Amino acid sequence: MGLLPDRSSLTALAYQLGPGRYYQPAYRFIAADVGIERGSFLDVGTGPGWVAIHAASGRPDVDAVGIDTSPAMLNFANANRQGRLNVTFREMDAANIVFPERTFEVAVAVQAAHHWKEPAPIFAEVHRVLVEGGKFYVYEADPASDVPSDWVARKGPWPPDSFIKKQWAKFGMDDARWAALKSVAEASPFGPEIEEERHGFYRRLVCVK
Ligand SMILES: C[S@@+](CC[C@H](N)C(=O)[O-])C[C@H]1O[C@@H](n2cnc3c(N)ncnc32)[C@H](O)[C@@H]1O
Repeated sequence: MGLLPDRSSLTALAYQLGPGRYYQPAYRFIAADVGIERGSFLDVGTGPGWVAIHAASGRPDVDAVGIDTSPAMLNFANANRQGRLNVTFREMDAANIVFPERTFEVAVAVQAAHHWKEPAPIFAEVHRVLVEGGKFYVYEADPASDVPSDWVARKGPWPPDSFIKKQWAKFGMDDARWAALKSVAEASPFGPEIEEERHGFYRRLVCVK
């Protein structure tokens, strides 16, 4: 093992200290909106774990599970959960989810889909592990959106809107990528009816089993 931290550890640290902090209001709005009051909740590409943590906080009847392929991100997620018993994090590829069929009531993927080189197997896997009528919300920042001030926690002027918009341009999905993702969802077991909505500065797909 080298003396310097590897690239994935540095990426995870930057995410924990950056978006993991300033998107706290967004994480809370998402967790409140996706409608899980009891049962099992899956956060796909959980990163530092905040959507799963907020979904489980104050809801003792919710079991939230966050999955991610990055052990470095999961280390932060486990620290952030602060011993909450109804949140667990597992190292797992969303294209190969190691849970039985019909395990989860609700699933979300926030800012994860732009990583997916092959989204089709991920839609199929999430469909498999949802109960009948369960919902999968896929969120990506819309680079064309304004920055709603109450969706971002700022320390003084940081981060300014200009910085956030640059991040969305780099890591969000433009119209063409978003349309391509929606086409994959429509061709998946969730299709052909996939709703598209706006929530804060995000676009989201609502996929119902
Ligand atoms: C930009 S981060 C977003 C994290 C978190 N959802 C949030 O909004 O703070 C995307 C995460 O998705 C994870 N990821 C990407 N592809 C994945 C896959 N196929 N299965 C599981 N996790 C994945 C990455 O490791 C990364 O932690």
